[in-house]
Amino acid sequence: MPHPLLVGNWKMHGSRSMVADLLAALKLGSAGLKGIDVAVCPPFPYLSDAASLLAGSSVYLGAQDVAVHESGAFTGEVSAPMLRDVGCRYVIVGHSERRSLFGEDCALVARKFRAATAQGLIPILCVGEQLAERAADDTETVLATQIDAVLELCGDSALARAVIAYEPVWAIGTGRVATPEQAQAVHRFIRGRVSRAGDTPTLLYGGSVKPQNAAGLFAQPDVDGGLIGGASLAADQFLSICKAAISQ
Ligand code: 13P
Repeated sequence: MPHPLLVGNWKMHGSRSMVADLLAALKLGSAGLKGIDVAVCPPFPYLSDAASLLAGSSVYLGAQDVAVHESGAFTGEVSAPMLRDVGCRYVIVGHSERRSLFGEDCALVARKFRAATAQGLIPILCVGEQLAERAADDTETVLATQIDAVLELCGDSALARAVIAYEPVWAIGTGRVATPEQAQAVHRFIRGRVSRAGDTPTLLYGGSVKPQNAAGLFAQPDVDGGLIGGASLAADQFLSICKAAISQ
């Protein structure tokens, strides 16, 4: 089983003082956490601050999006070399908010995945179905389409050691978490789709993970950690979710 990974996706939240306070608390609280990897993904303007604040800790830095181009006249974009330059290890690609609110399709997400890996960043590929798609029993078809776009552009082994976050859209920010059984069933499907013998993709669950429900999710054999939104903005909650991953 891959090393458990817990990632905080701060989305468009924060300020310089909030970042300083939250990271000071995480740095302190994560010092004793052994056997898991922890990362935070602040908004772009705070990445450099965060890199300095996290120096000397084991908490990794990630970004929430990346451009497909390396540099050039692309106003408003942030490239993978820039993310490397400020100390990122991870970058989220294809979050459902980018897909649904900013029109990112599977082809664009695959190009972002490729741009990230080309610079040695570890992409966290987000996949997930809408509520209506689950109701229509289309979950696996939707996920296969999202995953296959990356495999087609980047090659069959592109996801062999990647991080994939299953985030059912109906669970994001709603308080309506997938049951451990629902998460496990989808994670097993994803693992089957992307792995051959010996491959170890890290499969995260995301969507309303809280201290109260984390242990049940992380106890599932194919759930290797979490991508945490709202609860990652409070150090005590995020740390308690991290601890739930250790005890599994
Ligand atoms: P919540 O944990 O706030 O539901 O957000 C999940 C998410 O979108 C993480 O990327």
